[in-house]
Amino acid sequence: MVAITRIEKLGGTPVAKAPEPDMGHAIIPKDRYISPEFMRLEWERMWTRVWLVGCREEEIPETGDYVTTSIGTESLLIVRGEDGKARTFYNVCNHRGNQVKFDQCGNSRTLQCAYHFWEYDLTGRLVAVPDEQDFTQGCPKDQLSLKAVKTDTWGGFVWFNLNPDSEPLGDYLGIIPEHLDPYEFGKMAMVMNLTVDWDCNWKASVDAFNEYYHTACIHPELSYLHDDVDVQIDLYDRHSRYLIPFQRPAPRVGELQEVPDIMAADMLALGMEPAAFRGRVDAVRRAFQVHKRETAEELGYDYNRLGDDQLSDDYHYFVFPNITMNIFADRLMMFRQRPHETDPNRMYFDLSIMRRLTKAETRPRAPDHEHIRHGDRSLGLVLDQDSVNLPHIQKGMHSSAYQGLWISHIERRIRHMHETLMKYIAI
Ligand SMILES: [Fe+2]
Repeated sequence: MVAITRIEKLGGTPVAKAPEPDMGHAIIPKDRYISPEFMRLEWERMWTRVWLVGCREEEIPETGDYVTTSIGTESLLIVRGEDGKARTFYNVCNHRGNQVKFDQCGNSRTLQCAYHFWEYDLTGRLVAVPDEQDFTQGCPKDQLSLKAVKTDTWGGFVWFNLNPDSEPLGDYLGIIPEHLDPYEFGKMAMVMNLTVDWDCNWKASVDAFNEYYHTACIHPELSYLHDDVDVQIDLYDRHSRYLIPFQRPAPRVGELQEVPDIMAADMLALGMEPAAFRGRVDAVRRAFQVHKRETAEELGYDYNRLGDDQLSDDYHYFVFPNITMNIFADRLMMFRQRPHETDPNRMYFDLSIMRRLTKAETRPRAPDHEHIRHGDRSLGLVLDQDSVNLPHIQKGMHSSAYQGLWISHIERRIRHMHETLMKYIAI
């Protein structure tokens, strides 16, 4: 049986409740999800002016490592330079418009276009043009170098912003570094890197993870693992969060005499004994926190910057416009939601998982990236449950009978996201 000892609550991520803005009750127009014109406005006024995650640092650990990523119609090339810096470039050769790199990742000391072998160094500078003398107008290296994109890093991620005049990343992120630096994402290791094609607007996916109203309906088993009633919602400048107590069943399941299987699985993984909690399931969450704190040193984990609740709970953050983070002490499950190039009815769902390393481990390279279609294989029970409705939401929104989103109070992160989006669109 696990001894319950009193452990002083550590600092950790701030948990103070943010003031509630008055956002009204208006229907959110469906056109924002289905209209090519609104998609164009999003591109011109929002996607090209916000900081976006390009990749993890451990996808490009060595000099010459690169990844390609895309946002809308733009392909971007993120490269680790000889000075150790990550740089982002538009992935296009200034000769005849070929993409410089076609593959998702690789390593090369120079960036050579596959068409006529124009060659750029890792800082994007044009360094070699075959038969250069034949260009009678010349090949001015400074004008024909790869076009650089503003790049910065935070949390072990490489971020980029297509607006050269944007605010610094730190200003854009606002409260996020103060809140999430305690998790030390920069020391975590990516263990899953998957993209799934989904047949819905990118915001339908963002919405699906910005509310827990649906939890009792489509994830009934999660009622035995987390309390989706006592959830704190905080809305910030652009970003938002909810804090969900885990290892504590929701009130709707009533009083339990035995630890439910879904919770027992997490306890057994920690070396706890679920049977010891017969008749006192409400004590599990605190015991779970204490156990993690007490065994951390022996297992090689450092939770010193995390508060006790962070050892059990999901601190669920949304970083505008498209990053959803399910954050646990040992694991960050992140969704990056990207729009399709041309079709508002399609999107790319990037699923990545980062794992906390022990103090003895060195960070391995990220796993290979995979790209699949929805339904090719399971994403796990909960994400399968989440994604099953999305194509039908998108189809339903095209119905003449449907006007737009009728949002409840517990879904207000969706309204907040739209408020932020419309501040960009309105300018
Ligand atoms: Fe869900």
